[in-house]
Amino acid sequence: MISYADVIVDLQAGDTGKGKIAHAIAKNYDMVLRYNGGSNAGHTVYHNGKKVVTHLVPIGVLFGIPSVIGLGCVVNNQRLEQEIKDLNAAGFNTEGLIFVDERAHIVFHKHIVEDSSDNKIGTTGQGIGPAYRDKYNRTGMPMKGLGPNPSSLFQVIDTYELLHNKHNDWRILCEGAQGFQIDIDWGDYPYVTSSHCTVGSAILNGIPPHKIADVIGVMKAYETYSGFKKHFSDENDPILNKIQEVGGEFGATTGRKRKVRWLDLDGVIKAININGVTNLIINKADVLEQVGVFKYVYNETLHEVSTLERFQEAVNFIIQKSSEVEKITWSMTPHGI
Ligand code: IMP
Ligand code: MG
Repeated sequence: MISYADVIVDLQAGDTGKGKIAHAIAKNYDMVLRYNGGSNAGHTVYHNGKKVVTHLVPIGVLFGIPSVIGLGCVVNNQRLEQEIKDLNAAGFNTEGLIFVDERAHIVFHKHIVEDSSDNKIGTTGQGIGPAYRDKYNRTGMPMKGLGPNPSSLFQVIDTYELLHNKHNDWRILCEGAQGFQIDIDWGDYPYVTSSHCTVGSAILNGIPPHKIADVIGVMKAYETYSGFKKHFSDENDPILNKIQEVGGEFGATTGRKRKVRWLDLDGVIKAININGVTNLIINKADVLEQVGVFKYVYNETLHEVSTLERFQEAVNFIIQKSSEVEKITWSMTPHGI
């Protein structure tokens, strides 16, 4: 049996800095489990001062911690192998550390080709939707379809055996991808990804609900989105454009400019309550500080305050009165918490 699991969830539309948080706390765990999505994700972290971007490989690998790509994920073997080779070239020894659940479905080349011609959703073109479609259509192929050793760079395993039989008392960090606003069920359908991005997704990967200790919710002090949904933001607003620029809001997977709008506390509170967030991290208020304008939406009304301090006070107050969050941390640097 595992000892306990903490789950990281994204409370907005992805790109809130979950990777950075996973990186900051990973060394406190015996295993990291990535529970959803595929190479559509892009987690940017600074490891010993060096920028590292991962797409599929869980962040624990950078610390020599064994890491599982869980059954809720979809995996393109070539892209995974390339990512592992890139990590090796950057000096990370990944030998014996990377596991893929035998039930995770494969993203084939045909899925990527199909997804590349998407002009409706604004996908990342990684074949994610078509691979999940085939999974649910029962025409896909789980990893075990390739036999026991499809690669020399990672091992195919049964998460049950590894977490519940082979090891005892492991502390697990569940690392999510994407976010609440693009969750297949809770998101703004059809402008969503094809996987589950809530705490429920970690449970689907084999984590017993009563073993979940902390749910770590990650959000930014403003909202971003990349995709084809209309009316997400006023793209001619000079202050929002300034936030995009100062915040370096470009997709880590696609390089696309992210659209920016003011913090939506109504949306964030919903995501906090549905996920049961205990520990909340708010990233990138330093970007608002640099731009010097502080606004948020609450009760569908746009509010403005004059200083960062007042912004933080208002946000803390509203979140605390609307949820059961135990701890709120404002992280003001891209390099840590
Ligand atoms: P897909 O996941 O590639 O199918 O893309 C579906 C939608 O989710 C698009 O709007 C993507 O921009 C968005 N998306 C997918 N992965 C991420 C991510 O890691 N960060 C932010 N947006 C994402
Ligand atoms: Mg990202």
